[in-house]
Amino acid sequence: MSDVESRIDELRVLVGFHFDRYHDEDDPQIPDADYDALVVELRTLEAEYPNLATEDSPALLVGSAGRSMFDEVIHRVPLRSLDNAFDVDELRAWSERVHRRLGDQLGVDEVLDWVCELKFDGLAVSLRYEDGHLVQAATRGDGRVGEDVTANVRTIGDVPDRLSDNAPTVLEVRGEVYMGLSAFDALNAAQVAAGEKAYVNPRNTAAGSLRQKDPAVTATRDLSFWAYQLGEVVGGPKLGSHGDTLAWLATLGLPVSGLMERFGDFDDVVAHIDRVAASRHDLDYEIDGVVVKVDDLGLQDLLGFTARAPRWAVAFKFPPEERTTRLLGIEVSIGPGGQATPFARLEPVFVGGSTVAAATLHNADQVRGKDVRPGDVVVVRKAGDVIPEVVRPVLAERPRGLPAWTFPSSCPECGEPLSRAEGEAATFCTNHACPGQVRGRIEHFASRGAMDIEGFGEQRVDLFVGEGLLDDVAGVFTLDYDRIAAMDGFGEISVGNLRRAVEYSRARPLGRLLFGLRIPHVGTTVADLVASAFGDLDGLEAASLEDLEAVDGLGPIIATSVHGWLRQASNGDLLARLRTAGVNLVADVGPAGDADVPRVLVGMSVVITGTLEGFSRDEAKAAIVARGGRSPGSVSAKTTAVVAGDGGGSKAARAGDLGVPILDEAAFVGLLATGELPG
Ligand code: IVH
Repeated sequence: MSDVESRIDELRVLVGFHFDRYHDEDDPQIPDADYDALVVELRTLEAEYPNLATEDSPALLVGSAGRSMFDEVIHRVPLRSLDNAFDVDELRAWSERVHRRLGDQLGVDEVLDWVCELKFDGLAVSLRYEDGHLVQAATRGDGRVGEDVTANVRTIGDVPDRLSDNAPTVLEVRGEVYMGLSAFDALNAAQVAAGEKAYVNPRNTAAGSLRQKDPAVTATRDLSFWAYQLGEVVGGPKLGSHGDTLAWLATLGLPVSGLMERFGDFDDVVAHIDRVAASRHDLDYEIDGVVVKVDDLGLQDLLGFTARAPRWAVAFKFPPEERTTRLLGIEVSIGPGGQATPFARLEPVFVGGSTVAAATLHNADQVRGKDVRPGDVVVVRKAGDVIPEVVRPVLAERPRGLPAWTFPSSCPECGEPLSRAEGEAATFCTNHACPGQVRGRIEHFASRGAMDIEGFGEQRVDLFVGEGLLDDVAGVFTLDYDRIAAMDGFGEISVGNLRRAVEYSRARPLGRLLFGLRIPHVGTTVADLVASAFGDLDGLEAASLEDLEAVDGLGPIIATSVHGWLRQASNGDLLARLRTAGVNLVADVGPAGDADVPRVLVGMSVVITGTLEGFSRDEAKAAIVARGGRSPGSVSAKTTAVVAGDGGGSKAARAGDLGVPILDEAAFVGLLATGELPG
């Protein structure tokens, strides 16, 4: 790989990473200007070397302003989500709640009508028509603020640019943009013919297609649209029911699915859902359930909304899809703690929206209990639609004499014997130096929540461990960069970046380091608690078991684990090497008992969002923690207050929804001083 190629690769990772931090997590790690510089560099290189440009480059998805190349759209009527029902009991419980809430509002003989619609598996958009003309199309975003994708939506054939003559003054209509299965297959056939990678599933491809920088690209993607709900409406007829609304939308020229039905009896709703589930694969688009809505709009108003979703609608989600495929083999992977986990290698099969070629089998008992054997045809599904799982063998198709699988007695990575304790489900490789374990430990150490070393992912760890460059986490700081530079796939720039990322991580606070060391029972929260309680590693090493137990939030099990871990000779050596390597061993917050800092925020949870003038994000969090409070990344009903600086949109909005007080910077300074919220 040339230097340019590796720099482009590097930039794609960096831009993608910082984009997610900013966009999805509302937690930017670098200043906007630095981020913009990365995007500009990537765009410039891609323009200079068009043969290296790819369609999935993050440079296409993001722009500099606000980190999205699309303008913000504030939804005048928020786009809510739906609550889910995963089985018939939950569905009936929902209908009973609706009945209870409506109570005497419903006349004795009055029947409650339900409308069942398909739950289209695409992405929600809101279209705004003024005097019958499409003036704006926006993605859902966080429900309050979406992205302006008007130019791209105009390329969708199903979406009329003009409504029929009887259009109201303002009409906001919500619906789903999706890619039909034949459109998806045709797109993939063209990709493969051009020697490109096939897209994974129609939903993500529709989303990616809609968020293209260039509407001409969206226009080639054959997207479709179904309308299903109103937003803001000014003018138009008085509508009494949801069914009438859909019929009206259709008269205006909007695409409304004909596969919608109205029922007066809830048993018919349940029977209808069964029918839809059985025939879902006859459709030319993917659906993932049925949405049931109360038909009467007056009753919908009475029922209203929770913070998240309407009370008058529910999404019945289909159970995970099951498919059969061939079990090619069972292999065992070794985790960072030495745990030996069997997993199935499968003939690739499309299930639950993506292609699956491997699935965990958890442990020896599960393999035996399910009696799956290499060579079997097996049923595969996606649990929670995410993690693929082998459900059972299809015994009718089992070849004669197929032998059962036996758990290996030695580790596939290092050849040492595997052991399983009496009464335990898990099997372990106890060789601390096993390459499988070493790789897992280093991957965890370099990962986001721990030392967060950019560009130090699975592949590089595998490579460095495999080449003998690295055999424990301290080795990360003494890498031989000359040897790396001589390796295939590395150039001066990529080695320089790796080196910088490692250097940068050296300064991470003690809490991150402790989490990165995989001390049993020590997650991120406990690691931060321990770090701030003792201030630095010296303080922690000197702590007695009683000192540890006295830390708020630490029980005897965790205290014993930390105390014992620190006293193991090999761990002592490791810490000594980290110390020699110049790794920061100090917490970012002083010891809890710091006399200068009043502990006025004990028991409080204060979320920081946006940019403050007088504090960096870390400083603001540190100031809260130093006063005994907590500063989690997200807002919940338990949040005491949200401090909103510039640009803190979505969390402040969430706080508003939950009735959590929102403070400006001056009020935050007051809170730090007194622990009191402004009256
Ligand atoms: S109604 C206020 N109807 O499902 C209620 N949503 O899981 C607004 N969806 O965000 C939603 N098909 O993107 C509604 N027939 C349908 C739908 C539908 C798909 C999506 C929509 C929503 C998500 C919630």
